[in-house]
Amino acid sequence: MNRLGVRNMITILRIDVSARKERSLTRELSRRFIDEWLKQRPSDKIVQRDIGLNPPPAVSEDWIAAAFTPEEERTKAEQATLQFSDTLIDEVEGADIILLGVPMYNYGMPAALKAWFDQVIRVNKTFSFDLARGDEPLEPILSGKHLVILSSRGEFGFEPGGVREHRNHLDPHIRTCAKFLGAVDDQHYRSGHFIPQVAVSCSAATVSV
Ligand SMILES: Cc1cc2nc3c(=O)[nH]c(=O)nc-3n(C[C@H](O)[C@H](O)[C@H](O)COP(=O)(O)O)c2cc1C
Repeated sequence: MNRLGVRNMITILRIDVSARKERSLTRELSRRFIDEWLKQRPSDKIVQRDIGLNPPPAVSEDWIAAAFTPEEERTKAEQATLQFSDTLIDEVEGADIILLGVPMYNYGMPAALKAWFDQVIRVNKTFSFDLARGDEPLEPILSGKHLVILSSRGEFGFEPGGVREHRNHLDPHIRTCAKFLGAVDDQHYRSGHFIPQVAVSCSAATVSV
């Protein structure tokens, strides 16, 4: 532990969601966040997953059948079907912080992020399911992860009490899904087109791991 109570080496899983490579505000936020972070903690590990440029596939009938087949009974073909999901889940498992650079698309999350959540929220891998638990049969298997959302949207007023709060299906959906990865958000940095100084001030210091 260092003087901030932070473990010596932590891993940040940086996920970029924007379909834009050029002029992307959320990519700029992620980049600045990581730059600032590494200035303060150069030994930390950054794992990058670009789902904006390389979107995960949507889950299929074969995928669902394989995921619900007990691991020890899976055929080679079923194992292969889940291989990419396994890779993405390994990245989540290894992360202390999940950093999402995510735009709002049509008042919710981009399809690439939904596809990623569908690949990583997997029965008996990242959550367990037990009807004996009554109204809440799902429980996350992972825990203790921190979620940082760096987001951008063209309109304004999506914050609590804002004029478009009722149209904000992005942040609540991310939070609900992230809970099943054992991740909760410490800070949420939202931006229209005035992000850079927010990105700088949102770096390392506010997240305790
Ligand atoms: C397909 C698409 C849908 C969008 N939908 C919304 C929306 O519902 N509400 C909004 O405020 N902005 C919307 N925007 C604007 C983006 O959120 C905004 O341009 C954001 O900066 C995009 O992220 P990026 O700069 O990282 O690419 C949309 C943009 C695109 C490309």
